[in-house]
Amino acid sequence: MSRAPADSLKPILVIGRSGQLAQALVQADPDLLACGRDQFDLAQDDPAALLDAHAPFAVINAAAYTDVNGAEADPEGAQALNCTGPARLASACKARGIRFLHVSTDYVFDGAPGAAPYKESARTHPLNVYARSKRNGEDAVMTANPDALILRAAWIFDARGGSFLNAILNRLDNGLPLKVVHDQISTPTWAPDLAQALLALAQRDVMPGGLYHFSGGDAASWYDFAKAAIALSHERLPVEPVIDPVDSSAFPQPAQRPLDTRMDAQALLKATGIGPGDWRAGLPEVIARRYEQRKE
Ligand SMILES: NC(=O)c1ccc[n+]([C@@H]2O[C@H](COP(=O)([O-])OP(=O)(O)OC[C@H]3O[C@@H](n4cnc5c(N)ncnc54)[C@H](OP(=O)(O)O)[C@@H]3O)[C@@H](O)[C@H]2O)c1
Repeated sequence: MSRAPADSLKPILVIGRSGQLAQALVQADPDLLACGRDQFDLAQDDPAALLDAHAPFAVINAAAYTDVNGAEADPEGAQALNCTGPARLASACKARGIRFLHVSTDYVFDGAPGAAPYKESARTHPLNVYARSKRNGEDAVMTANPDALILRAAWIFDARGGSFLNAILNRLDNGLPLKVVHDQISTPTWAPDLAQALLALAQRDVMPGGLYHFSGGDAASWYDFAKAAIALSHERLPVEPVIDPVDSSAFPQPAQRPLDTRMDAQALLKATGIGPGDWRAGLPEVIARRYEQRKE
């Protein structure tokens, strides 16, 4: 990917290494530096030494406390990783003239009937601890570094380990029936689409600052998403898949989820020409890669 000429020799630094977005960033630009929590603990480390050692052109924060249920019992941990740490990093980047990009979530909204699709100006109302810590993080980052760019994403997916996609396909590979919620709706985001957008925006001659929505075009429920994944995996499954739609109430969880968090990404598209891809376009590649990985 091309880089502004004056900065072509400086690296882009990614906070996070093994996560879905961090991995998609590494795939998209093998020259960037991705740093796992063993090298830099976002929740507690002072970023000065890291930034001074690498002198990056831009920092993309792909790290977060993403265990939505786990956060209910660990609000301090979620706040440290999703708010205090990113704000400290944003401030250290500002002091050094380093571009800072951060990612937030559709869960800042409560998904009340009739409210979606959400624009950036819509009222936020997080329903769980994870979402509150991410919402606090948005404010703290923008206060620490008003030049920062924050993209809100929804339902990020890829072929990685414990994702929803792998969980349902693992069941079907074992010939087990599925019950999938049909009353939670959003705009899924293929991790490589978000990675490409972050890299392209980081490398603009002038990076746009502020908070924008970025999520994957077409809306879907988890049930729609599962059905699309099954259609693409059908011939590899051992038995005819059985999938039943159920209400969220069939799966009580510690953290309450918003029901309809479809986002409107037109503002980013108008300002930069960059918009979300269609999640349906990413799904075939994810499924193909998943089965290839299993053969290896
Ligand atoms: N997943 C979704 O559906 C979703 C939806 C909307 C928004 N988001 C947001 O999108 C961003 C990326 O999410 P993701 O799905 O890629 O998350 P993920 O797969 O759960 O990865 C989390 C990343 O955070 C890093 N991390 C965890 N604790 C850390 C610590 N103490 N210090 C430094 N790094 C730490 C991990 O580092 P290691 O590499 O060391 O393991 C990992 O790379 C997050 O801001 C998330 O809130 C996610």
